[in-house]
Amino acid sequence: MDEKPPTSPNNEQQRQQYRSRIRKLKMRLLPIVQHVCKIVIAAVLALWLWSWLYDENSNKNRTWMRDGEEVAKSGWRWSDVGATREVEWQPCYEKYDCAKLELPLDYLDLTDKRRAAIAMIRFNATERTDYKGPVFINPGGPGGSGIWFVKHLGPYYQSVVGKNHDIISFDPRGVGASSPRISCWDNMQDSKIWKFKDVDVLDAHPGSLYDAYAHAAASSQQCAYTLQPPTKSDLGVGSFVSTASVARDMLEIMTKVGEEKLKYWGFSYGTYLGATFAAMFPDKVGRMVNDGNVDVVEYSAGRGIHFIQDADTIMAAFYHFCHAAGQELCAFHLDSEKDIETRLEKLLENIRKNPVVVPGSSSSSGRPQIVSYSKVKRMIGSTLYRPLVMFPALADALAALEKGDGSVFLDLATQNFDDPLICESRYGVQEGGDPTDPTPEMPEAEVSEDGGTTILCSDGGWMNDTVDEFGAYVDEVMIRSKSVGAIMAEMRLECVHWSVQAKWKFDGPFDGNTSHPILFIANIADNVTPLRSARVNAKGFPESVILVQNGYGHTSLSAPSKCTAKTIRAYFQNGTLPAPNTVCEPDLTPFEPYNVTSSMAESCDDHQLDVALFELMKAPVIGA
Ligand SMILES: *[C@@H]1O[C@H](CO)[C@@H](O)[C@H](O)[C@H]1NC(C)=O
Ligand SMILES: *[C@@H]1O[C@H](CO)[C@@H](O)[C@H](O)[C@H]1NC(C)=O
Ligand SMILES: *[C@@H]1O[C@H](CO)[C@@H](O)[C@H](O)[C@H]1NC(C)=O
Ligand SMILES: *[C@@H]1O[C@H](CO)[C@@H](O)[C@H](O)[C@H]1NC(C)=O
Ligand SMILES: *[C@@H]1O[C@H](CO)[C@@H](O)[C@H](O)[C@H]1NC(C)=O
Repeated sequence: MDEKPPTSPNNEQQRQQYRSRIRKLKMRLLPIVQHVCKIVIAAVLALWLWSWLYDENSNKNRTWMRDGEEVAKSGWRWSDVGATREVEWQPCYEKYDCAKLELPLDYLDLTDKRRAAIAMIRFNATERTDYKGPVFINPGGPGGSGIWFVKHLGPYYQSVVGKNHDIISFDPRGVGASSPRISCWDNMQDSKIWKFKDVDVLDAHPGSLYDAYAHAAASSQQCAYTLQPPTKSDLGVGSFVSTASVARDMLEIMTKVGEEKLKYWGFSYGTYLGATFAAMFPDKVGRMVNDGNVDVVEYSAGRGIHFIQDADTIMAAFYHFCHAAGQELCAFHLDSEKDIETRLEKLLENIRKNPVVVPGSSSSSGRPQIVSYSKVKRMIGSTLYRPLVMFPALADALAALEKGDGSVFLDLATQNFDDPLICESRYGVQEGGDPTDPTPEMPEAEVSEDGGTTILCSDGGWMNDTVDEFGAYVDEVMIRSKSVGAIMAEMRLECVHWSVQAKWKFDGPFDGNTSHPILFIANIADNVTPLRSARVNAKGFPESVILVQNGYGHTSLSAPSKCTAKTIRAYFQNGTLPAPNTVCEPDLTPFEPYNVTSSMAESCDDHQLDVALFELMKAPVIGA
């Protein structure tokens, strides 16, 4: 969805910052190792990580997330992989297997000869004794690339679910390396120019709402025109990427890799995919963990209200933990939580009138930049996804802004805001048709924006509020969250005047007697997928259990907890569900230096879990 959280660096300067940030983190983490096993494991993991982060970064034309060159070097490219009717794995990315599966574009009309080609990735079980088959992952979105996430994090997911599981994921239709590909623009340049246009957040100034509405409506019209030109009679490919189709694809993939039941761990939007699958095919659910739950009813009605209800609790956690941490660890510290809150309010009011100017420098191609109220609000909104990772940096940036120095903020923003260059698919809509046609090689990105929007608006339907009706909705959301309501209400704007309709939309009911109970997971406060949604969704699935994690942020990954991880593992390994009302404590505290060696250390396995959870926490988050 709209809020584009924490991606990763994408040019040399950002990489530098990123490297120094990582270096700082590593310094803090310097293990005081107590057991020999820890030394060995840490060394192996560090080496592995090192090569992963640094090798890719040190090459000029490579970034953390774009690996075209590496691929080119090994001679392996997605565009060379033909779609096949059965899953034909081939080695890719050194330690993975990839495949492209040909499936019907239109499940409701099999006489339509157009096809989808679903790109898949597998990280093998590393322990073959007691092999338990694959666990499917969906990273969220909609629009998140399963390929990207498994390629970068596959081993870490596996550390949690158990090494006797393969990890499998795929790019949903409309996303990443799968086709149909969806882009609302004929070329990247247009898309970039359009998206770089700064639109103020809805409460920035009187009238901001009108501008934002018009900007969104224009985007929708552009998409509608590209995805469904008025001259065409056939439904365009944009009508075939709803979550109903994705769930159906997942059934097909699961069957074709030889599984009778699905084992699945979905995050954020992935919980909607999970719930949809469970409602459509309840007898095919072997294991399902829905982590960071989207309220299925609100989401499929395209009008979320309750999703925002925890956001201010996380904002309050910023004040609370900043206060508790002290000046040394929190640069925005004051003597009471209330004082910190007031300090932020004052800063925002001041910036609204007097945006901070940052003079041009070599790192900004000589152009001066402005840190506006809208930019600061968006940054605050994005930090709520991952308090542990982001709060200290936010405090630094705010403290500097107060002194009229916007450079710290800009550094943080370049690390965290998306750049269309990496997030947008660059090729026009590819018609379904012959999936064996060579497809243009896609730069890898963790999310495909236009594909994501198309899925979101397919699932939620048209948003045809007038601007005044939409204004009333914004007010409703802002009442529920003073801190970020105005930002999060923008998500719904994505579908304004959206006129490409899904042919197949699953409208519920979202219930079923699944063949194994679902495990729902929720943080005590999640800025977009609150515990409340887990409770609502769980009602439809008898026997399901909700595990509450006493942490702040989006999905369980934002607040590492070995307790949660071990619960998830026992569930996948043995089918065991936690007792109702189980609460897991997180292992880390916001603003406290991470210390991957401290809490654990009971065993090698704990240490591996710590490292895995730490990496999963740092990974990019994709909206809701
Ligand atoms: C994964 O396991 C399968 C089946 O044992 C094997 O054929 C394949 O080569 C393995 N892939 C990798 C990358 O090791
Ligand atoms: C808004 O869209 C819905 C379809 O989702 C349609 O039923 C309704 O008539 C539309 N309203 C207006 C005013 O166009
Ligand atoms: C689940 O099973 C119970 C008991 O057999 C039944 O009453 C209920 O209607 C079923 N729910 C669904 C959604 O099929
Ligand atoms: C699964 O059950 C077995 C046998 O009861 C037990 O030894 C094992 O520790 C359990 N695994 C997990 C991950 O809970
Ligand atoms: C990390 O944990 C170890 C072991 O408990 C402890 O000795 C060390 O002081 C901790 N370091 C920090 C920075 O907290």
